[in-house]
Amino acid sequence: MFTPNEKPTRPIGLVIFGATGDLTHRKLIPALYQLALAGKLPENLHIIGFARRDWDDQKFQDEMRAGVEQHSRTQPIEGETLNRLLKRMTYVSANFDDLDGYRRLDQQLDELGADNRLFYLATPPGAYSTIVQRIGEAELAHCPQGWTRVVIEKPYGHNLESAKALDTEVHAVFDEHQVYRIDHYLGKETVQNILVFRFANGIFEPLWNRRYIDCVQITVAESVGVGTRAGYYEGAGVIRDMFQNHILQLVSLTAMEAPVAFNADAVRDEKLKVLRALRPLRGEDALENTFRAQYAAGRVDGEGVKGYKQEAEVAPESITETLLALRLQVDNWRWSGVPFFVRSGKRLKRRVTEIAIQFKQVPLSLFGWRNLAGAAPNALVLTIQPEEGITLSFGAKQPGPVNQISPVKMDFSYAESFGGEPPEAYERLLLDCMNGDATLFTRSDEILAAWAFTTEILQAWEASPVKSLPVYQAGGWGPEELREFIAGMGNQWRDLG
Ligand code: BG6
Repeated sequence: MFTPNEKPTRPIGLVIFGATGDLTHRKLIPALYQLALAGKLPENLHIIGFARRDWDDQKFQDEMRAGVEQHSRTQPIEGETLNRLLKRMTYVSANFDDLDGYRRLDQQLDELGADNRLFYLATPPGAYSTIVQRIGEAELAHCPQGWTRVVIEKPYGHNLESAKALDTEVHAVFDEHQVYRIDHYLGKETVQNILVFRFANGIFEPLWNRRYIDCVQITVAESVGVGTRAGYYEGAGVIRDMFQNHILQLVSLTAMEAPVAFNADAVRDEKLKVLRALRPLRGEDALENTFRAQYAAGRVDGEGVKGYKQEAEVAPESITETLLALRLQVDNWRWSGVPFFVRSGKRLKRRVTEIAIQFKQVPLSLFGWRNLAGAAPNALVLTIQPEEGITLSFGAKQPGPVNQISPVKMDFSYAESFGGEPPEAYERLLLDCMNGDATLFTRSDEILAAWAFTTEILQAWEASPVKSLPVYQAGGWGPEELREFIAGMGNQWRDLG
C-alpha cells in the first residue's frame, strides 16, 4: 500500500469521462496539478477530456486552468507547472453512447503512443454502464502493449441488486484487476494511518479487542447541508451517501485483523472478513438498531440556514434521513459483545470525523466513581478530520490533599508533527491507480458485501414505512431522540463540544 509496485514507462493516456463536470474541475485536475508541483506526475502522461459539451482543446485547457486557480490547495499558482500540465490536455466531444467518439478517442491514444490507459468515470452514475459497454465495443479495454484500467466513482449501485448488475456489466468488459472503485475516504492520510497506528506499533494492538474495549464510536459529522445536490440526495440519504461506503470502510479498518502482507489483496481480504462478520440488521433488528432524523432550519457558524424540506428539489413529504445512527456488532472472536456505535449527519454543529475506542473501566474503584465516572472513560480518539490527530484520554490526580481525579489528554497532532496540511485524497488515489496499486480501492466482493448489509436495512425501513422523521435543529448535535437511542442501549455519545 505504501510503495507503488509498478513504475509507468510508456506514455499514459488518462481519459476523463465527464471532463466538463464538477468533480474534474474541483478535485481531479487540482490533484494532478499538486502531483505535478511535487514532481510526482509521470512525465509521459496525457490527459484527454471526454464529454458531451461542444468544447475544443483550448476551451478545455482554459476551463481546467480556472479549476486549478480556484481550487488548488496551495496558492499562489506556479504558472510554469500549470502551463506544462495544460499543454498535455486534449478534448474529445461526444455523447457517451456515441461509438464514433470512442473511435476518435482510440485514434488520439494511438497518435500519442499511449499504450497505458486509465479510464476515469467522473460522470453521473447513470452513464457508467453505457461508457463501459462502449469502451468494450470500441476494443479499448485491453491493449496488448500496456495496461488498461478503469476508475469508477461512487455511487456504485444504489442497492445490492443494482451493484451486482453494474458489476456484471463492468466484468463483461474488464477483468477485476483492472477495476479501481474509488472511495475517497481511503485516500485520506489519516484513514491510511489507522493501519499504521494499529500494526506498526506494539502498544495498542494487544488492547484492541473485547477484553479491554467497551465500545467503539464512529462519528462523521458535517456542518454543510445538501447544497445543490438534493436531487441526488433525496434518493440516497446518509445510508447510501456515507454509510454504505465511507463509514463501512472506517469500520473495516478499525476492526480488521492484521493482513499477512501490505498488498491490495491481503488488506482487502481482511476488510472483507469484517463486513462478513457484521451481524445482519433485518426486520425488527434493523428498526431497533438504527435511528434516522432530518434537519430543520437553524444556525450554523452564526448563519441562518434552511431546513432539509425547504431545500430545492426536496419533496414536502420526504423521509430521506440527513442524520443516521446505528449500533453494529462484529460477530467474531475479537469483537464479540463490543458495540460499534455510528452516527453521521449533515448540518450538525461542526465538521468532525473521528473513531473513538472507548476502554472498559477498572474492575474496582479505589477512588470513588464520582471522579472518573462514565462521563470520561479512557478513550483513544483518532481524529480523521479536520484537526487530524490522535488523543489518548485518561484520569490523572489533581494536585492537592484529596484524591480528586480529572480527565487529561495525551495528544498527537499531524500539523505539529509533520507541518502543513496533508495532501488531498485524490492526489494519492490518482497516483496509485497509475502505479497499479489497488490497495486503497474497493474490490468487487467488498462492495457487494457492504451493499448486502446495507440493503437489508433499507428493506426493513421500506417494510415499515414512517410518515415523517424526527427533526433536529441545524447547528446542533442532533435531536434528543439520538441521545435516547444510545442511552436505551446503556451507553452515551461522546461529547463533541
Ligand atoms: C461524499 C458525499 O462522498 O462525501 C458528500 O457524497 C459528503 O455528501 C462528502 O459531504 C464528505 O467528504 P469529506 O471528504 O468532506 O468528509
